[in-house]
Amino acid sequence: MKIIWAITGAGHLLKESIDVLEKISKKHEITLITSKAGKEVLQLYGYNNKIKKILENPHHHYITDEQQQYSYPLSGKLTHEKYDLIIISPTTANTTAKIVHGIADTLITNVAAQSGKGQIPQIIVPVDQKEGLITTQLPPYIDKTKCKQCDTCTANNKCPQKIIQPPLIDTTKCNSCLNCENTCSYNAIITRKKIQLYIRKIDAENTKKLEKIENTTTLLHPEEIIKKIEEMN
Ligand SMILES: Cc1cc2nc3c(=O)[nH]c(=O)nc-3n(C[C@H](O)[C@H](O)[C@H](O)COP(=O)(O)O)c2cc1C
Repeated sequence: MKIIWAITGAGHLLKESIDVLEKISKKHEITLITSKAGKEVLQLYGYNNKIKKILENPHHHYITDEQQQYSYPLSGKLTHEKYDLIIISPTTANTTAKIVHGIADTLITNVAAQSGKGQIPQIIVPVDQKEGLITTQLPPYIDKTKCKQCDTCTANNKCPQKIIQPPLIDTTKCNSCLNCENTCSYNAIITRKKIQLYIRKIDAENTKKLEKIENTTTLLHPEEIIKKIEEMN
């Protein structure tokens, strides 16, 4: 199958999505697309090398939102070039809200809209599923209450990119290599921190509306994508 896999800027279900992408990339031709936030979040959680490896096969392609300018030529292709399936996983609350309201102003929301016009089936895995609390993991950060802003930062010494300027880590460049873990005598570098987030009612309601969109299947976990593809084959 020729599949477009879209990654939006969600940390939640990101690892699980990439694990499934890796599995299906061995059997199917993948065009990976990322939103602007998706590209940043992939880097922030340290997945760039893994993505590079998954896409090594020359049958796979990678297109970012920035490369597509404003008219999204990739989406144009969906009405006349053969793609068998669109998968959006993980899907942020933002992208979900846009899709259910017919907004198509990013590469991924544009692909979602055009997949309907081209009658291509689409699978969406939204991250905000039910109103209430979920647990998610943060990328590395500095606890400002503990950071002593030392003249020589021991964590920055260990950082291959030298992007730790106390009391801040330049998160646009951090790739979560975790070389900084346990390097600060004041324990100001926080890694693998889990937090609870509240899923708002409006976001959970938008997720429910996805089911009403033609050609769209909503799944609750990326693992379910594998079974769905087997059913389609
Ligand atoms: C580290 C990090 C993790 C994030 N995780 C989520 C998430 O799990 N769910 C979500 O809806 N937004 C999350 N966001 C916020 C989105 O990236 C942000 O709303 C972005 O504008 C979404 O754009 P997109 O929908 O075009 O990808 C996260 C942001 C950061 C920096």
